Amino acid sequence: MSAAAEVKERLNIVDVVSPYVPSLKKAGKVYKGLCPFHTEKTPSFVVYESTQTWRCFGTCGEGGDVFNFMMKAEGYDFVEALKVLAAKAGVVLEKRTPQAEAADKQRKKLLEIVAVAAQFFHKQLLESPSAQFARDYVARRELGRETISKFQLGYAPNQRDALKSALLKRGYAEKDLEAAGLLVTKENAPSIDRFRNRFVVPIRDIRGRVVGFGARALKDGFGPKYLNSPQSNIFNKSEVLFGLDVAKSAIREKNRVVIVEGYMDALQAHERGFANVVAQMGTALTEPQLKQLKRFTDTFVLALDADSAGDAATLRGINVARGVLSDAVVAVPTMRGTVQLEGKLNADIRVATMPLGKDPDDVLKTDPALWEKTIAEAQPLVDYYIHAITADLDLNEAKGKSAAVQRIIPVIKEIPGAVEQAHYLQKLARLVKVDERTLRAELERFSAATNAKPARRQRFSSPPPPPPFPEDGETTKPARRAVKSSTRLENRCLGTIIAKPELLSYVNRALYDVGIDVLAVSDFADSVNGALFLAVKQWAISEAPTLESLMPVVPEELHGHLATLVSLWHNQPAIPPDESLQKDLPKMIVRMRRLRLEETIKELNMLQIGALEAQDRALLARCQTDISHAKATLNELDKAHDSLSIMGRRRLEEKYLG
Ligand code: UTP
Ligand code: MN
Repeated sequence: MSAAAEVKERLNIVDVVSPYVPSLKKAGKVYKGLCPFHTEKTPSFVVYESTQTWRCFGTCGEGGDVFNFMMKAEGYDFVEALKVLAAKAGVVLEKRTPQAEAADKQRKKLLEIVAVAAQFFHKQLLESPSAQFARDYVARRELGRETISKFQLGYAPNQRDALKSALLKRGYAEKDLEAAGLLVTKENAPSIDRFRNRFVVPIRDIRGRVVGFGARALKDGFGPKYLNSPQSNIFNKSEVLFGLDVAKSAIREKNRVVIVEGYMDALQAHERGFANVVAQMGTALTEPQLKQLKRFTDTFVLALDADSAGDAATLRGINVARGVLSDAVVAVPTMRGTVQLEGKLNADIRVATMPLGKDPDDVLKTDPALWEKTIAEAQPLVDYYIHAITADLDLNEAKGKSAAVQRIIPVIKEIPGAVEQAHYLQKLARLVKVDERTLRAELERFSAATNAKPARRQRFSSPPPPPPFPEDGETTKPARRAVKSSTRLENRCLGTIIAKPELLSYVNRALYDVGIDVLAVSDFADSVNGALFLAVKQWAISEAPTLESLMPVVPEELHGHLATLVSLWHNQPAIPPDESLQKDLPKMIVRMRRLRLEETIKELNMLQIGALEAQDRALLARCQTDISHAKATLNELDKAHDSLSIMGRRRLEEKYLG
């Protein structure tokens, strides 16, 4: 049994969900409560103990297993959810190499050490008589008691080894303190505390575990303003966002995140009650950071100091953001040219610039209303970007105009959507006072030059006629465990895509052509499959997808499952030819969806019985609407399935009859 399956078996979803849904109560065969993911007055969040699943029948309409729940509730990715729940269930995750085991153990130890160090610094700030100066500093920065404790702010004493001796006394080894980045060594001298006489800000990961520190000098001229923990195997500055652990629920509630540059900016925002603020700690925004945020919201506001707003590093960071947040789009050819099927994943990115010479910290302290206004009036990213990359040009001169066009056209080209492109072309025309048609011609020339490389094409040319595709489950060898038929279907579908990655865009096109959604993570009921598909869908559209290039992008915890799928594929009695796969895979996906819908209808029926028993009329009415809605969707799926069959037959006829 895989670790994930074992975790599911040992835990009861009701126990996992309960802390997040205080209102959860047994109602007939199910448990019901107020949905933790949106605000509501009547409970529409249901937990099914029998199937170990949950679903919200209210506005969010989502559901899944215990892993999906933790992913949604805490913003974890699948592997994080697996780790947390495995620890809870007492399941040891797949035995890995002894080295990996040892590394894990070492990480745990270091995490424990920095957590203890954070407590030490915090206690110093609160209680030590020698920390009076630091307390005054914190008061001058206008940070109150609540913020101090919520962020566990601290003080590193003005001594050579206050922390070191405290930790040694507790039994930690000096080499581990060093590895945790808490000490510095000079040649031929005993090591001493890295952080001395500084205001200490613990940096925590998304799960709230301390991973490092940023420590600010209390006076100017005593070394660098901030000393940070060095890079280590627990601290990677470019992957954490300061404050995210505290801010994540507010980010989800407000459906917006504000990203500031410094610790102090974020702390001040929280102090003033703006809880959806995180800090990027002085580096450019990175892909892992943005991906973490994307789990909570699609709306990003970058709050930049005026002095860094136009500089190269900022623009580079913003470029990363544009790339990451526009997401990988499976663009497939259609009769109308190229369409973006997953453009809806795009994020809304805006930039707010603080008044000259001020940072968010200043603005928040002197004028919280101005802060709110500045954030509310943030410019769309493209406007900001266009403004910033042309700030050094004289747009009244021919040379300046032409340079501006050269710089902006590539930006416009990347904007998805013809309407938006046209909007920015108009803007550019006004900016440089050049006729729009001239600019459009320029854009087309530019596009032609960069699109010269032919897109990868589907091959339709392997000749043998298709043998019948094996039915569900036939592919596995005897002694099959009682795997749900939906899971078997998912496994086969995913296994096929892994073996034949070029099929994915073909399949998406087929689904699109019959009017239904393309394959998405949410199509997989089994969250292990969902997590694997997340990696697979990016990989499948890469230049040359091979198993070797897939392994590194799949989290290690999923390698076992990946291997299972690959061997299922190879153990088929006969590997189906591409043509029959092209025909059958889209239908397989439709059947997958159908099975899930049938599950939903079953769940709804259970709910309906409960509603009848409890004489809950409102719920009863909603169940009925939902059931008829689900049935209508079933109908649509059946029609899509038929169309796919017809399409498949027509293709064959075209091929063999002329
Ligand atoms: P700032 O200089 O804007 O710092 O640098 P700040 O947070 O506003 O701090 P105050 O208000 O001057 O006290 C922004 C971020 O850059 C990183 C820190 O993460 C800081 O919060 N930084 C800055 C360093 O890591 N080291 C430095 O010496 C300076
Ligand atoms: Mn500042």
